Amino acid sequence: MSKKYFKRYTVTSALPYANGPLHIGHLAGCYVPADIYVRYLRSQNREVAFICGSDEHGVAITIKATKEGKSPQEVVDHYHGLMKNSFEKFGISFDHYSRTSAPIHHETAQGFFTDLYQKGEFLEQSTEQYYDEEAKQFLADRYIVGTCPKCGNEHAYGDQCEKCGTSLSPTDLIHPKSKLSGGTPILKETKHWFLDLARYQDFLSQWILEEHGEDWKNNVLGQCRSWLEAGDGLQARSMTRDLEWGIPVPLPHATGKVLYVWFDAPIGYISSTKEWAQEKGIAWEPFWKDEGTKLVHFIGKDNIVFHCIIFPAILKAHGGYILPENVPANEFLNLEGEKISTSRNWAVWLHEYLEEFPGKQDELRYVLTANAPETKDNDFTWKDFQSRINSELVAIYGNFVNRALVLNQKFFNGQVPDRGELSPIDEEVLQEVAAFPEKIATSIEKYRFREALSLVMDLARVGNKYLADTEPWKEIKVNEARTQTILNLALNLAANLAIVSEPFLPFTAKKLLDLFGLTTSKWSDAGNLSLLKAHTSLGTLGLLFEKIEDEVVEQQVQKLMTTKTMNEATEKAVPEMKPLITYEDFAKLDMRVVTVLEAETMPKSKKLLKLRVDTGLGHRTVLSGVSEHFEPEFLVGKQVTMLINLAPRSMMGIDSEGMILMAEGNDGKLKLLHPHVPTSPGSVIS
Ligand code: MF3
Ligand code: ZN
Repeated sequence: MSKKYFKRYTVTSALPYANGPLHIGHLAGCYVPADIYVRYLRSQNREVAFICGSDEHGVAITIKATKEGKSPQEVVDHYHGLMKNSFEKFGISFDHYSRTSAPIHHETAQGFFTDLYQKGEFLEQSTEQYYDEEAKQFLADRYIVGTCPKCGNEHAYGDQCEKCGTSLSPTDLIHPKSKLSGGTPILKETKHWFLDLARYQDFLSQWILEEHGEDWKNNVLGQCRSWLEAGDGLQARSMTRDLEWGIPVPLPHATGKVLYVWFDAPIGYISSTKEWAQEKGIAWEPFWKDEGTKLVHFIGKDNIVFHCIIFPAILKAHGGYILPENVPANEFLNLEGEKISTSRNWAVWLHEYLEEFPGKQDELRYVLTANAPETKDNDFTWKDFQSRINSELVAIYGNFVNRALVLNQKFFNGQVPDRGELSPIDEEVLQEVAAFPEKIATSIEKYRFREALSLVMDLARVGNKYLADTEPWKEIKVNEARTQTILNLALNLAANLAIVSEPFLPFTAKKLLDLFGLTTSKWSDAGNLSLLKAHTSLGTLGLLFEKIEDEVVEQQVQKLMTTKTMNEATEKAVPEMKPLITYEDFAKLDMRVVTVLEAETMPKSKKLLKLRVDTGLGHRTVLSGVSEHFEPEFLVGKQVTMLINLAPRSMMGIDSEGMILMAEGNDGKLKLLHPHVPTSPGSVIS
């Protein structure tokens, strides 16, 4: 671990795509952790630039624009505003939030491209790409759909099959179709500029695995290793695209070509810093070029390769820039057991949360940190949200602060009492409290925010225990001076709690600091139990946190259930037609009406029923996956449709001699196919 002293910090959070609103996964992934980190640094009086902005290029944006019938610019303008607002409301304290459509960013990104071009860093290569002749456009991977060669999903994208998770390239797809015109695209030659990552293989291996093999997170190192140690090494990556939306490639003969979004977006950190420095009238260079600056990128795990491999290679190729000291990427946060998805509306949207839980930003920040996906994917559930707020924030933190303030109000009119003489139990608590700030700081500096937050809660527990042990509500009846000492210490402890919890719960901390007359949260004040001047009048404060009622949680769960039902209906939309077949293909199928004679469940199977049917040609045994749809008794005596010349298959030790045919509707339920009047078993269907 590098023990270097840094005099300045440049902290970035991934630039979110301006193609949809922000949700809890964004917050948990890289905005809350980065905000905790910078708030802590600021309270340590360190020089920090906390930089972010909207990522406004790439196909993510053009797809959204096509869907909504808007221009890409309209889309990014809308979401840039919405996201900026959500960040502000949640107290994400960026020093600057810019956007990649800003002129300063176009200039900076083109400057990088030109510099690398002139240094001969690019391989110029012509490749064949799918082209839509009707729309007269090359097609980005996401604009091509077709059948997945692995699992047969007919709606796989040119870069990935979302059903089986396989990464694909567009030419892997069977029956590719353009999403623009619906037609079949053709392959056409096009020229692009590739960053030759192989040249940086050794440098990157050395820098990541040797220099940072100890201090970077395991999940990050693991991904880096799998890229760096892949059999044929790092592959050249195209840094340009055939697209209309984006930053034009600054070369002659490159019309219609733009910079790859993952080339320009990380450079956005630099342009955002420039814009900020310009507004402040200070120099931007020290934040990116001075070895005394610690650069830290907060991101989600899907961004690791871009921040640990590609962007550092770009910075290195350019020269003169510092590299990140750390890239503390988080894993993913799921929602009620399922992957958060913008397109499926499976998310808790920040702008909705702000309306439905007004003033409860700290509560969400708390839950997302206490349950942060720091080392593995985690699940957000509304039940857990409720129980963490009720049994932790309310019962531990809120309870302690509230008791100290209320007792002091009652006994001493809200004035900070005199310290008086300390007893051994007081000395003990003094020492215990003094040890917290450093422990919390160490965890934060190691990017272990969950651990840091649980230490903060431990400090609140110390406060509760101190009150329980000293019982000021009893003491007041026998010894007022002693009670003064107890409450003096308890109030000081609450002030300490405010300081160390400020990075996590900034709104709550501010209320407390204001109450105590402490204007700023200074980390150096933490650990000190003589922060409050005796006889200062403290105002009053309502409850810091309220309990979350069952109905509130049920409502949120209900809302998600509605989304799920709607998704299921649209996802089960009528499947597209399979490719045409000939009459000969059809004539090979022997389908008959058969009568079910017996039906029974299978002891070890949830899905299968064992049927005995009369096919007219004899009795047969068929296993049918309908157990979740029909009771065995219901089937007995029914006439159904069956494919009788399907080769027998053995399942669970029984041969199934054919297949019962069913219809599946939008509701996902199976329906039997009957003749409209009874007919003889073995009637041919043709
Ligand atoms: N927009 C990207 C995403 O949401 C993140 C870009 S991070 C940057 O996954 F470094 F490129 F800015
Ligand atoms: Zn697949």
